[in-house]
Amino acid sequence: MKTKLTLYFLFCLNILLAQNTIIIESSEYAIVIEKDSLKRLQYVYFGSKASNLNDYKSIDKQLRFEVKDAADIPNHIYTPNGTWNTAEPALQILHSDGNPSTELEYEKHIKENLGNGVSLTTITLVDPIYKTEVLLFYKVYHEENVFEQWSSIKNNELQAIVLKKYASANLYFKNNDFFLTQYHGAWGSEMQPETHRLTSGIKVLDSKLGTRSNLYAPTNFILSLDGIAKEDAGKVLLGSLAWSGNYRFEFEKDRFNNLRLIAGANNFAAEYKLGANHAFETPHFIYTYSEKGKNQASINMHRWSRKYRIHDGEGNRLTLLNNWEATQFNFNEKKIIALLDEAKEIGVDAFLLDDGWFGNKYPRNNDNAGLGDWEVNQNKLPNGLSNLIKKANKRGVKFGIWIEPEMVNPKSELYQNHLDWVIRQPNRKEYYYRNQLVLDLSNQEVQSHVFAVFDNLFIKNPDIGFVKWDANSIIYNAYSEYLARKKLPQSHLYFEYVKGLYKVLERVREKYPKVPIMLCSGGGGRVDYGALQYFTEFWPSDNTNPLDRIFMHWEYSYFYPAIAMSSHVTNWNKESSIKFRTDVASIGKLGFDIELEKLSKEEKEFCKQALFNYKSFQNIIWYGDMYRLQDPYENPIASLQYVNHEKTSSVVFSFLVSHRFQTFYSKEPILFKGLDPKKIYKIEEVNLFGGEKTEIDQKATYTGEYLMKFGFNPIVSDKRKSVVLKLSEITL
Ligand code: DGJ
Repeated sequence: MKTKLTLYFLFCLNILLAQNTIIIESSEYAIVIEKDSLKRLQYVYFGSKASNLNDYKSIDKQLRFEVKDAADIPNHIYTPNGTWNTAEPALQILHSDGNPSTELEYEKHIKENLGNGVSLTTITLVDPIYKTEVLLFYKVYHEENVFEQWSSIKNNELQAIVLKKYASANLYFKNNDFFLTQYHGAWGSEMQPETHRLTSGIKVLDSKLGTRSNLYAPTNFILSLDGIAKEDAGKVLLGSLAWSGNYRFEFEKDRFNNLRLIAGANNFAAEYKLGANHAFETPHFIYTYSEKGKNQASINMHRWSRKYRIHDGEGNRLTLLNNWEATQFNFNEKKIIALLDEAKEIGVDAFLLDDGWFGNKYPRNNDNAGLGDWEVNQNKLPNGLSNLIKKANKRGVKFGIWIEPEMVNPKSELYQNHLDWVIRQPNRKEYYYRNQLVLDLSNQEVQSHVFAVFDNLFIKNPDIGFVKWDANSIIYNAYSEYLARKKLPQSHLYFEYVKGLYKVLERVREKYPKVPIMLCSGGGGRVDYGALQYFTEFWPSDNTNPLDRIFMHWEYSYFYPAIAMSSHVTNWNKESSIKFRTDVASIGKLGFDIELEKLSKEEKEFCKQALFNYKSFQNIIWYGDMYRLQDPYENPIASLQYVNHEKTSSVVFSFLVSHRFQTFYSKEPILFKGLDPKKIYKIEEVNLFGGEKTEIDQKATYTGEYLMKFGFNPIVSDKRKSVVLKLSEITL
């Protein structure tokens, strides 16, 4: 029996240890932070949870990072600049007296349970001389193993300070063989992956495009901590900055071969002047970690984003008929009414009228003119939108509309009347992207204007049922008339643009919480978890060639769930059959953007049936878990699977992606995933074209174990380039 005194001693020891050790845990993983004798906080552990809490408290005994003369402590949790740190800083401040140095000492931390499976640990660090207060936030979504980090920097001096760098998160990983998968792209070729080993020095991923970073490189990456990331094995971190503007990720392999990660908004041309007593909050960095490979990590991300982030992430979605690919700018009322008939006939939930419906003085008949002038074009639609909405609703179809309210054509009344609202250098030549410029959302008046574009549409037409919000231009000539007038630094523009955009979207969602809104940006030029809290879905790319989309979907799917990925059947790559195009579009949120009247009777019938089938399994795709079965980069057949939470139903898609070496088609079974090994399933092939018979034995039944251990051959061949299988549990 322990004496009272021993118990008291243990209690005091625990308090002492607890004060030195900060433990941030999800259901499976832990981040452990330790305070050293100089009150600096250091990461001592990142990985799977310990079963004994006390074990965390002695991890640091095994580490021997020391502060030697001017040498850095590599594992500091938010490296400041100008004192002991000689590594890349997370924070760089110019103080009001011109001093460029910062030291951060531990002050306190608190852990709050926010309910709904979420906790928040807030660590307070303070500069002992300048009293700058830095709050580091670690929000944990327990079940999903998702972490969200951001920081807030408060100026406690009497005068303004300048934030030269202000990361959202600074992390540290121990190992010595890190691989990074980064993405690059351009219009029509978004999400091109590249994987490489990280070497000594700093690898930087960033964007300076202002509005649509995906056009160059999205705010996502995959970091593998022990060799190249695999689907079902290995230590993997998926990272994503929730920010719709310039960002910067720095991966620094240090002299111990460990990795420092600094993530945040890009400080390029973006120093921030922070007034006395003001606080600056950074964007949020979101990541999930898995020691079971990429597939589990992406399932974490999907579950988290549906539950906590994407607007109405667990809600319903509308299947669409869009007119962009079918008509471009060339339409009139008659044509649109004919499309409404087709929407009804095929059975989609909504029709979406795309670009070209507005502008009178400068009609929007091409992308040269009219952007910004949001009155209905009298020539094309003499009876206004209201007539079309009425006609759509009469057909049982919702009516959707395209807008691009953040931007303007120089050939527009908006540009002529409000030149000071436009981001441009007053004394230099203008540069255009798609013949347009970006409006200055740092200006509150412009924010109100952009909100009003949305609001007025609904005030006049309350029955609008869907919106596509586009944003085609990047920011050239970054200069704000408004900031100049307010005597604020021009270097605030990139940051304030995004804040301004979020303020507008906040107002939109406050007033219109239910309207589905698609995030679009000249294809997939802008998608991130900052914007997605206001949008129900996004447009991944204008490239709808089904072959390309298989690869893009594959990559996007590491970060975003299928419910958010709009996926349309179009005429891109007409050589592939309507079945192939529709089957590919069915792996996301299905829509059509095609002149249905030009299809043969059989093709149209197929689309109708495929849409009907989609509706029968859409819940599995939208809310289930996704598994990548066979990688299109490494195999002639791509295969992916969705499984519902009860594991009673599943859909498996297989596509022929290579026409070379015919003999290899479907020789091998594909191993299914995510099923219940004990359940018994039947397999039905759906989306068969015309009177085609399936080659699958639909009477046979299989245990989940069989399908996952021995696999199943979907019999993909030159004649069966895409195969959709529906699995259902049977109870005997
Ligand atoms: C770019 C989008 O990605 C397209 O889908 C279409 O809406 C056009 N803009 C319209 O201008």
